[in-house]
Amino acid sequence: MCGIVGYIGKKTAQDVLLNGLKRLEYRGYDSAGIATLDDEEQPHIARSVGKIAELEKVVAKEPQTGHLGIGHTRWATHGGVTEANAHPHHVGNIWMVHNGIIENYKELKAELKDVEFKSDTDTEVLAAFIDKNFAKGTSLKDAVAKAVKKVRGTYGIAVFSPLEPGKIVVARLGSPLIIGVGKDETIIASDASALLGYTREAVYLNDGELAVCSDDNVDVYNLNLKHLSTNTETIEGDLAQIQKGGYDHFLLKEIMEQATTLHNTLSGRIDPKNGTMHLGGPNLTTKEMKDLRHIVIVGCGTAYYAGLLASYYMEQLIPDITTEVVIASEYRYRSFHLPEHTVALIVSQSGETADTLACLREIKKRGAKTLGVVNVVGSTIAREVDGGTYVHAGPEISVASTKAFTAQVVAMLMFAGMIAEVHGGNKSLISQFTQELAILPKEIEKTLNEHHDTMKKLAKKYAKYDDALYLGRDTAYPIALEGALKLKEVSYLHAEGYASGELKHGPIALVDDTFFEVFDILDNWLFEKSIGGLHEVRARGGHALVLTDAVDKEIDADDVVRINTPIKQLVPILLNTLQQLLAYYVAVERGNDVDQPRNLAKSVTVE
Ligand code: M6R
Repeated sequence: MCGIVGYIGKKTAQDVLLNGLKRLEYRGYDSAGIATLDDEEQPHIARSVGKIAELEKVVAKEPQTGHLGIGHTRWATHGGVTEANAHPHHVGNIWMVHNGIIENYKELKAELKDVEFKSDTDTEVLAAFIDKNFAKGTSLKDAVAKAVKKVRGTYGIAVFSPLEPGKIVVARLGSPLIIGVGKDETIIASDASALLGYTREAVYLNDGELAVCSDDNVDVYNLNLKHLSTNTETIEGDLAQIQKGGYDHFLLKEIMEQATTLHNTLSGRIDPKNGTMHLGGPNLTTKEMKDLRHIVIVGCGTAYYAGLLASYYMEQLIPDITTEVVIASEYRYRSFHLPEHTVALIVSQSGETADTLACLREIKKRGAKTLGVVNVVGSTIAREVDGGTYVHAGPEISVASTKAFTAQVVAMLMFAGMIAEVHGGNKSLISQFTQELAILPKEIEKTLNEHHDTMKKLAKKYAKYDDALYLGRDTAYPIALEGALKLKEVSYLHAEGYASGELKHGPIALVDDTFFEVFDILDNWLFEKSIGGLHEVRARGGHALVLTDAVDKEIDADDVVRINTPIKQLVPILLNTLQQLLAYYVAVERGNDVDQPRNLAKSVTVE
C-alpha cells in the first residue's frame, strides 16, 4: 500500500527519495510524488500517475537540488488515480505525505469552509488543518500535534514547511514510520527496506507519537508534547536481500530461495537427535503451556491458509487442545468468546495488516495471551504481541507471498511440537515431524530443481485457460486454497480452491472442457477417495493436473507431477512449491506484472 520516504542531510534529497520510493514499489501503488526544499528555502514538487519511472521522467525535466524532502507512493483510497490526488499535498505553508485513512475527513472538511481543495483526498484535509493551526503562529510540531488529535482513523505522516526549514515533522497512529539515524543525515520511511544501505540505526515511532527530525537529531514527543526518551534499534537485513539476485522477478527468487530461508526459520529450533522442537520467543511459562486448552490462529489471505494447514498438524500433535483458525477481517467484528487458557497466534508476514492488527487488539482486550508469527522485524504486530516468534523468511518483496507461507507453517508446527512435549504428546509423532523438518529444506530444493522445467512447460499449456479449480483433501486442502489464491493473484485467471469432498456439493457443476483442475493428492489413507474426485472431473471433460507424492500408483490425468520424497507429513509444503512455480510461469506467460499484480498491495494497512 502507500509508502513514505523522507530525507534531511547532505545528499541531494531527490535522489534518496526516488531510490527509497523504488524500494517501496513492491508494496503496490498507482501514483507517486516528491517535494523538496532547496537551499534558498523554495519548495519544489513533482507528481505523476503510474510507476516511479514516470515520476523520474517528470523530475528529469526539472531536477530538484535541495537536501530536504518527502516522497510518497499512493495506493488510491479516497479519490481516483490522478496527479491531483497523488502526494505530496501542499496547502498554504504545509507540504505533506500521508499513509492511512482519515475516517472523519468529511467532518473536518466541513470546518474548513475557506479552503479551496485541489484534490479529493482525505490527506489534503489534514494538511489544511495543520496549515490552519500553523498560521496561528504555533510551531510546526505544535500545529501537527493539534491537528492529528482531531483525526479518527489511521495516519503515518511526514510534513515540512519553508517557514521552518531544516526539519521534517512526522507522526503516526496505526501506520508505521521508522526514522533512520545516519551520520549527519536522517532518513524517514514507512518500511525499513528504504533505509538499507544508508543506516542500520533507527527509531521506531509508536502510535500516538510525533517526532521532529533534523539532519543530526530526532526528538520524539507524545501528542501532549511531552518529550520522550528514544531508543535506537538495529535494522535487520541487507541490500542483497532486496535485490533480484539474477532472477527475472522477485517472485521466482523468493520461490527458489525457500530452502535457504527455511534454514533460518529452523535454525536452533529443532533437535533431530532427540526428536524435539523448541521456540524461544513465545515467553510462556511451563505452567501456561501445560494449562493451554485453546489455540486461535488469526490471519488474512496466505497467512490464514498457513494457519489452516498448521491447525491440521496441531490437531495431530496436541489432540487435547482445541484449535480454531479465523479470518481476521471477519473475526474482528464477531462477538467471539475466548475460553480460559487460550493463546492466540497472530500470523502476518508484514506485521502491519490492519485487520490482523485489529484482532490482536480485540483479543488482548479479552485477556488472552497473544503470540506473533511475524516476518518483518520491528513491525507493529511484532511490537504489540505478548511474545511470539519471527519466522525469519527475510524480506519478501513480491506481492504474492510464497516463502513466508512455508516459514509460517513451519514456525507454527514448531510451536505445536513444543506444546506437545509439555502435554506429554505422542513422542514418536513429535520426533517424526522433527526429522521431517530437518530434511525439509533439502527436499524443497530437490523438488524445485527437479520439477522446475516441467512446471514451466505445464504453465504454457494451462495459461490458455480462463478458469481453474484446485482440489485437495485433509492437509492438501489448505494448499489447494493457497494454490488457487496464488494463481489468481499473479495470473488473473479465475481460480477457486475447494476441499475435494465438496466437489459434488456444487463446484462440479462448473466442470467442462474449458476448465482445468489442479489436484493435490497425498499418498496416504485418503488416496483412493481423492482419486474418486479426479475420475468424476475427467468424466465431465475437465483437464486434470495432478501434483502428488505417489510415485508408483496409477493415476489417470492429463498431467501428473510426482515428487519422490521420504517426507510424509509435510508433503503439502512440497506440493505447494510446485503450485507456486505454476502460478509464476502462468503469469509470465500471460505477460503480467508478476511482482506487483494489478490492484494488490503487499501489506494491507487499511480495512
Ligand atoms: O502481511 P500479511 O501476512 O498479514 O498479509 C496477509 C495477506 O494480505 C497476504 O497473505 C495476501 O493474501 C498475499 N498477497 C498473498 O499472496
